[in-house]
Amino acid sequence: MKTPPPSLLSYILLALMCLYPSQGSDHICESPDHGSTLQVMHVYSPCSPFRPAKSLSWEDMVLDIAAKDEARLLYLSGLVAAKSVVPIASGRQTIQSPTYIVRAKIGTPARTMFMAMDTSSDAAWIPCTGCIGCPPSLFASAKSTTYKSLGCQTAQCKQVPNPSCVGTACSFNLTYGSSSIAAALSQDTITLATDPIPNYSFGCIQKAVGSSVPPQGLLGLGRGPMSLLSQTQNLYKSTFSYCLPNFKSLNFSGSLRLGPVGQPLRIKYTPLLKNPRRSSLYYVNMIGIRVGRKIVDIPPSALAFNPITGAGTIFDSGTVFARLVQPAYIAVRDEFRRRIKGATVSSLGGFDTCYSVPIAAPPITLLFTGMNVTLPPDNILIHSSAGSITCLAMAAAPDNVNSVLNVIANMQQQNHRVLFDVPNSRLGVARELCT
Ligand SMILES: *[C@@H]1O[C@H](CO)[C@@H](O)[C@H](O)[C@H]1NC(C)=O
Ligand SMILES: *[C@@H]1O[C@H](CO)[C@@H](O)[C@H](O)[C@H]1NC(C)=O
Ligand SMILES: *[C@@H]1O[C@H](CO)[C@@H](O)[C@H](O)[C@H]1NC(C)=O
Ligand SMILES: *[C@@H]1O[C@H](CO)[C@@H](O)[C@H](O)[C@H]1NC(C)=O
Repeated sequence: MKTPPPSLLSYILLALMCLYPSQGSDHICESPDHGSTLQVMHVYSPCSPFRPAKSLSWEDMVLDIAAKDEARLLYLSGLVAAKSVVPIASGRQTIQSPTYIVRAKIGTPARTMFMAMDTSSDAAWIPCTGCIGCPPSLFASAKSTTYKSLGCQTAQCKQVPNPSCVGTACSFNLTYGSSSIAAALSQDTITLATDPIPNYSFGCIQKAVGSSVPPQGLLGLGRGPMSLLSQTQNLYKSTFSYCLPNFKSLNFSGSLRLGPVGQPLRIKYTPLLKNPRRSSLYYVNMIGIRVGRKIVDIPPSALAFNPITGAGTIFDSGTVFARLVQPAYIAVRDEFRRRIKGATVSSLGGFDTCYSVPIAAPPITLLFTGMNVTLPPDNILIHSSAGSITCLAMAAAPDNVNSVLNVIANMQQQNHRVLFDVPNSRLGVARELCT
């Protein structure tokens, strides 16, 4: 290939610099989303309105995140264990804190909200003007010319939990432990990147009791009724992918790509499994775990998919650290420890395999039907910034009777493209550095 003349080269460089503004500049926070791709930010990112006012120490941040994970796990295990079929019970987790957020524009004129991205939830939730107990950033539904509330007789009203009629309007409540929210079932235009979606059904939160309602709402990416997928069949064909940035590089952002266009062609797939009782969750068949080259000894029942009990393995965007049921975790942890010879094991919060000397960790490979995913150290270890502590970023599922779920969490998914291809009933994973 011939080198282009300098003038052309500098033009190309200039064009590239305009396309990719320098890292850390405010430009990156203002940069618009293009096509059907949204920027995904960590909730502590400099571009996030929810970043902590003063930066937390590494240990405090890990303990804080791990504590929120406990609540998430309780929610997920409660979800799979419940006997009755409640179509969008998953909305209960709106009472939890977001990890990754995307920008969405709601109403006419459009109001930008930073919504939590959640693959284990169906409905979208937005705190609305007049809400009692909501954080201060509210959507002024009365000022939107395209807003309407949905009546008790609508099909959507039959899909929400605990519906009730306020006059003729459909309203519903969710409880989670000691927290609860009440929302009006509503419709308005939601714009994702450059795609306007008219008449999108969501819950307009009117009352919240409890501490951690996602401050600007939640976007459910589950596959049950009322989810984004169900409401945009023609536009996005129940297909999306994301790349979650590593939370140690808070200046980086990832992407949420909606629809089949632009999805990776070279990617490994495993079949998605469907649990009719918990239609929102993305179950896959994990058949084993390798630590280094050794497939560890896990009783098959600890990994088996069972739609009745809810047992099995899910990919979840809202849990931070992987959780394995007790026998699976213990087998992985013991082999991991065996490979790190001579170093003293300590603990930190809920993590029981930590070291205060540098270690050479073996890779961990998750074996799924048709797909093996080898996780590099960044996806399995958390390091303190000073490098003084390193922990295995996994834990045993909470020790209760409902603990039947293995959760592939967002730390394990960071810097991978994870593709949810519902029409072909498959989930794809490929390494990708998201920036
Ligand atoms: C992120 O960018 C800011 C400037 O906007 C800079 O001060 C900071 O050091 C960067 N942080 C990292 C971890 O690169
Ligand atoms: C929902 O919550 C509101 C406000 O707290 C309350 O007045 C209403 O009775 C609740 N409805 C149901 C069905 O629980
Ligand atoms: C949205 O709802 C309004 C009022 O119910 C209706 O007139 C309009 O056709 C709907 N738009 C779309 C795109 O479905
Ligand atoms: C995954 O790894 C296992 C054990 O190392 C191997 O037997 C299997 O063929 C691999 N599967 C794929 C799809 O590469």
